[in-house]
Amino acid sequence: MKILIKNIKKLVQVRDEHIDCVKGKDMALLPCIENAWLAIEDGLIAEYGSMDDFPGISDWRNLEIIDAANKLVLPSWVDSHTHLVYAGSREGEFVDRINGLSYEEIAARGGGILNSAKRMQDAGEDELIERALVRLNEIMLQGTGAVEIKSGYGLSLETELKMLRVIKRLKEISPLTIKATFLGAHAVPADYKGRKEEYIELVIQQMLPVIAEEKLADFIDVFCEQNYFTPEETIRVLNAGKQYGLVPKVHAEQLSNYGGVKAGVQCGAISVDHLEYVGEEEIAALLNSSTMPTILPGAAFFLSLPNPPARKMIDAGLPLAIASDFNPGSSPSGNMNLMQSICCVQYKMNPNETINASTINTAYAMCVGKELGSITPGKKANIFITKEISGTDFIPYSFGSNLVDSVILNGKIISR
Ligand code: NIG
Ligand code: FE
Repeated sequence: MKILIKNIKKLVQVRDEHIDCVKGKDMALLPCIENAWLAIEDGLIAEYGSMDDFPGISDWRNLEIIDAANKLVLPSWVDSHTHLVYAGSREGEFVDRINGLSYEEIAARGGGILNSAKRMQDAGEDELIERALVRLNEIMLQGTGAVEIKSGYGLSLETELKMLRVIKRLKEISPLTIKATFLGAHAVPADYKGRKEEYIELVIQQMLPVIAEEKLADFIDVFCEQNYFTPEETIRVLNAGKQYGLVPKVHAEQLSNYGGVKAGVQCGAISVDHLEYVGEEEIAALLNSSTMPTILPGAAFFLSLPNPPARKMIDAGLPLAIASDFNPGSSPSGNMNLMQSICCVQYKMNPNETINASTINTAYAMCVGKELGSITPGKKANIFITKEISGTDFIPYSFGSNLVDSVILNGKIISR
């Protein structure tokens, strides 16, 4: 099957050659072709160019033609941080926060991650798959074409495995590109209260070997934070994961400046995520690393946290990625377009920066840069066509609207 998209008002994020990531001043540059065409073949991006040089159609067999007049074509969003397999919503905690409690106070009362862990224990795999598919479908229609999903609401051998098996099944049945992260060290479960060391041993000695054996995860992650896991514990867990071939990530500096970024950089983490409390030392550490700083504006917004210093990081020359953190507690939305709007309005990122941060840079953070994140010959044809809009600035400007008209994943038209 071949698809030809013609008369595209603007083909966005065109990179003739693959690049790993975009950083510093370059984040404001977004290469585009005006009045363009794009050919898709065998699930891949085949060719593109300006309509002025359109070579014409030599073979009409098996060809679907889409006219994208007044519309933009972009590579699908890559969402490199979510917890979208979960068993129940937590709007009660949302109301508690409105009434004055903090995320930490709610967690201390058994809410937060432990609340989701309690519900996860009793949930069946089929039910989890069904609910996750609804969420995947929702983000797919909002332009997301690849997503990372974490475990971490299991917190026991059996339930962490259940979550990861659900994610494995989602990889098989969803048209989205999915990567799995083992987040056993998300919180100390209630039955290990006061016995954190024993729980860490369970994660390292019992969970990891089975997860590696069954190839259930691509990444390993730790919530490095007061009352969760210290930087030293984070390093231990990440290094253990590395022994099994898992790539490290860290939940870092979300609620305090606690050392997660440095721990991640020390372990060669592919990304450190959240970053509300990043300071000069963390920026310096990141500048000497290959770790992608990733901000999660949905969580910062929803928990009323301080803004992560996005502008400062970019101006210091760093790359930056934006992910949704889609989860029931701190970010019950996977809408990448909304995440970009928050970054523009609250953090003073410009629209081009947010588009680079949600495509090439998140593809890097998900280790799928060679196949996704830009319009590049040979990359997977995961793209979306917008409604009729004026240009790329209109995307974060129109917060709350869904501007996605058609979705193509793996070279197949998913919605139109
Ligand atoms: O990324 N920070 C830790 N973990 C999640 C929140 C999980 C939850 O509250 O359920 C996050 O924000
Ligand atoms: Fe998270």
